[in-house]
Amino acid sequence: MKKRKLKIKNILILLLIVIIIIFTLLVLFNKNNNTLEKIGYNSLEIQELEKLSKEELNTIYKYDYNSNLIYIVSSENYNKDRLDLYMDYTLKNNDIDYLKIFNIINHENFKEENIDKYITHLKKFDNIDGIIKYVNEYENSNVKLNSTTLSLIKEKYFIIDFLDRYLNYYEKHKDLEYKEIITRVNSNLDYQFYTDSNKSDLTKEMYTLVNKYNYLNKDYVPDNLVNVTGMYARDKAELVNVAYDNFVKMADDARKSNLTIKITTGYRSYNFQSTLYNNYVKVDGVKNADTYSARPGYSEHQLGYSADLTNAKNVAFDDFENTDEYKWLKDNAHKYGFIMRYPKAKEYITGYMFESWHYRYVGIEIATYIYENNITYEEYYAYFLR
Ligand code: DAL
Ligand code: ZN
Repeated sequence: MKKRKLKIKNILILLLIVIIIIFTLLVLFNKNNNTLEKIGYNSLEIQELEKLSKEELNTIYKYDYNSNLIYIVSSENYNKDRLDLYMDYTLKNNDIDYLKIFNIINHENFKEENIDKYITHLKKFDNIDGIIKYVNEYENSNVKLNSTTLSLIKEKYFIIDFLDRYLNYYEKHKDLEYKEIITRVNSNLDYQFYTDSNKSDLTKEMYTLVNKYNYLNKDYVPDNLVNVTGMYARDKAELVNVAYDNFVKMADDARKSNLTIKITTGYRSYNFQSTLYNNYVKVDGVKNADTYSARPGYSEHQLGYSADLTNAKNVAFDDFENTDEYKWLKDNAHKYGFIMRYPKAKEYITGYMFESWHYRYVGIEIATYIYENNITYEEYYAYFLR
């Protein structure tokens, strides 16, 4: 008898616990419903919002009704850690398309401390990338903001010091994309070859830029030149030691694939270049010669980090493009720090025709960047080394 009483008591207790749990759940559930309802959400909205976590709901309870909320939380780009910001700013700025605010908060370069500034500009301009970059990086400069400057600013290789040049170039070439304006001005194409030229900045050492805007003195001879002989050269050549060491590694690795890469000329003195160029001019005229030969002082070969290459058959330059050695170099040279210096389709930037045989040593990191981003040394130098 006593045992039975105990059993009933246990069952009753259990029942009570179950009832309490159900009751609590109901209250909680209802609370959501009630709170959301009180804020002003309709039953369809509530249905959606109840799928959110408790934390998210608690955030939502802090704010007034937000007609954009359903769109925000159902967007594939919705980030629940930023819900507070979405709520705050879409409610405070209901004169702006909420998607713009949402996208600015989601932007990879978004900085919370700058949000008010982003939004101020957003009210005037429709360029999220430009606004974010401007506020993050250039706000303290004297840039006059308009839609053109914002479009320029958002470009990857934008250089603030060149802004006036970009704007001038844009005035004359309105048909070009902003990206192209940046590429051209960074490569000095708004200047004249040989005329608007400066002495190469030798403080850049192995990264020194030599091209139609940057020249070396007549008497410039690099330090640390070494002879390239034997199987590494067609006859004999010279290179700066670090370029030589890496060339040897590259040629040795190519040989493992039965390829022979040899240097025809590496370092060339001013006088040698002078003879070379003048001979070409005699045969071909200045205009043509300038497309494939550097004027004396303007040749990268004088720097000692460049090499013209051939193969076991000593193919002529013009045929090098059709060799297996070229095919291998195209996708491997950067691993040894060499870049193809005058690539196809970049003639208007480098000022020279495509030279499948001319490689320049710049170190593995830079060579890899240039290879992967398909840019010229002119563009790289302007943005990263200038
Ligand atoms: N062929 C290259 C441009 C030179 O003469 O340096
Ligand atoms: Zn060359």
